[in-house]
Amino acid sequence: MIAMLGRIGLQSLALSFAFGRVAALDLDVTGQDSIKSTAKTLAGGIVAFYNDSLKADGIPGLFPDPYYWWEAGAVFHGLIEYSHLTGDSQYDSLVSEALQWQLGDDKAFMPANQTGSLGNDDQSTWGLAAITAAEVGFPKPKDGNWIDYAVNVFDTQLSRLQAENGTCGGGLRWQMLTFNTGYDYKDSTSNGNFFLLAARLAKLTGDATYSEWAEKSFIWAKDIGLISDSYAVYDGASAKQGCESISKIEWSYHNGIYAEGAALMSNITNGAQNWTDAVKGLVNASSVFLDYNVLVEVACENSGECDVDQRAYKGITARSLARAALSAPVVADSIKTILQASAKGAASACSGSGEDVSCKFSWAESDSKGETASAKDGNLGEVFDALEVVQALLYPQAKAIVSGDGQGSGSGSGDATQTGGASGTSGTASPQQTGAAGVNVASIIAALALAFAVVLSY
Ligand SMILES: *[C@@H]1O[C@H](CO)[C@@H](O)[C@H](O)[C@H]1NC(C)=O
Ligand SMILES: *[C@@H]1O[C@H](CO)[C@@H](O)[C@H](O)[C@H]1NC(C)=O
Ligand SMILES: *[C@@H]1O[C@H](CO)[C@@H](O)[C@H](O)[C@H]1NC(C)=O
Ligand SMILES: *[C@@H]1O[C@H](CO)[C@@H](O)[C@H](O)[C@H]1NC(C)=O
Ligand SMILES: *[C@@H]1O[C@H](CO)[C@@H](O)[C@H](O)[C@H]1NC(C)=O
Ligand SMILES: *[C@@H]1O[C@H](CO)[C@@H](O)[C@H](O)[C@H]1NC(C)=O
Repeated sequence: MIAMLGRIGLQSLALSFAFGRVAALDLDVTGQDSIKSTAKTLAGGIVAFYNDSLKADGIPGLFPDPYYWWEAGAVFHGLIEYSHLTGDSQYDSLVSEALQWQLGDDKAFMPANQTGSLGNDDQSTWGLAAITAAEVGFPKPKDGNWIDYAVNVFDTQLSRLQAENGTCGGGLRWQMLTFNTGYDYKDSTSNGNFFLLAARLAKLTGDATYSEWAEKSFIWAKDIGLISDSYAVYDGASAKQGCESISKIEWSYHNGIYAEGAALMSNITNGAQNWTDAVKGLVNASSVFLDYNVLVEVACENSGECDVDQRAYKGITARSLARAALSAPVVADSIKTILQASAKGAASACSGSGEDVSCKFSWAESDSKGETASAKDGNLGEVFDALEVVQALLYPQAKAIVSGDGQGSGSGSGDATQTGGASGTSGTASPQQTGAAGVNVASIIAALALAFAVVLSY
């Protein structure tokens, strides 16, 4: 043991010589200006990489291989938050163009190019970006409203969910198309994102139908055992076996999104005991991902085996925890401790500026695992994680969101009112009626299947 420590110590000494000239990002976790300036550096690195890839392929809203489409959605979501939290709106039109480009013909984030691997989780990752755009009053898109796009995602997923009554008593499948690998898996990303989107729509529109679906979704996840009695969130279940066997691997991402959704539900229900227990239990369960309060992706980080996708999870976790703290003050102190320690670690794990801003995956002080690299050199996830956890510190002071429930008073463009279907404040119309926003689910599935057949025939 001692010999090993000695060796690691020597290694990190050697590393600090090698990188000695590049200073870590300087962050004072209690100083607004310091937080904003660190976030600006990190966002700049991401956008510089995006600008370069946009020049290369001309398709807005994508990052090149090996970054999957979902991750682009998560990153643009982070840049929408960046604008809201820091007031630096210089990237708004770039980000807005990216989201609009990837909407697909039916304005529900199901672009035909992605059909070959389009999962419910991928679609909802973009849908959650759209609802954030609505909440923060992001400049209105050319055609429609941000909230309509989020509602379209909800509606298409709800129709898939309603077809699932016979299998596992509910729950979304990972993949939406029968011929894609993963169709037989009911996963916590798809179901957690659906739960969160429903809870956010409920909070934003005041429409009780969304909170009913959020509740059903959560209760299903607990009944099936995706969420344990002590609020551990497991990865997913095989639909082939009636969801009886659960894959018990735990990702911080899932803990975060369920905590954020539960926090919103506890807020909407004015602190109902069971939702307050849920949010407290989920935040307690996050301890499995903490090393002296610093977020660690335990399932793969310690072995250094996190894949490209997994290396972007901690950013989403940080975002969701920060937002949970806003809606459920009862967990705000615990979350603040986690975010401050993690942001401090993340800033120390990053260095450089401009397009060369580079980060490594591990934030824990004791840990030097992971390569240090910029977004363009393979660490988009790491730079994104750092941006999210640093800017998360700004949430407590952020401007109020645009809200339809009378509790927010955002000064944005008032986009949080839908053009079709349920109106922002009526609280009566059902989400199914928001098909009026122009989505015909059956025809979308048919179009996707057709697009896929075309892709296969190449
Ligand atoms: C990226 O391009 C946009 C629009 O062309 C520009 O406003 C922005 O400054 C560029 N950002 C970086 C970091 O290169
Ligand atoms: C789909 O691919 C085509 C051909 O590369 C491209 O022109 C188009 O912009 C892509 N659309 C999206 C939404 O990515
Ligand atoms: C599932 O079936 C039950 C009983 O037929 C029904 O009450 C329920 O509303 C259905 N659920 C969904 C999601 O369609
Ligand atoms: C808190 O989390 C720990 C371990 O993660 C677990 O053993 C314990 O049961 C949890 N407590 C509550 C009240 O959920
Ligand atoms: C919380 O309790 C209420 C009232 O008993 C119940 O209607 C609701 O289904 C419960 N929700 C959850 C998530 O357990
Ligand atoms: C609901 O959230 C707001 C902020 O969005 C917060 O001020 C309020 O205290 C929360 N209410 C409850 C019951 O947690």
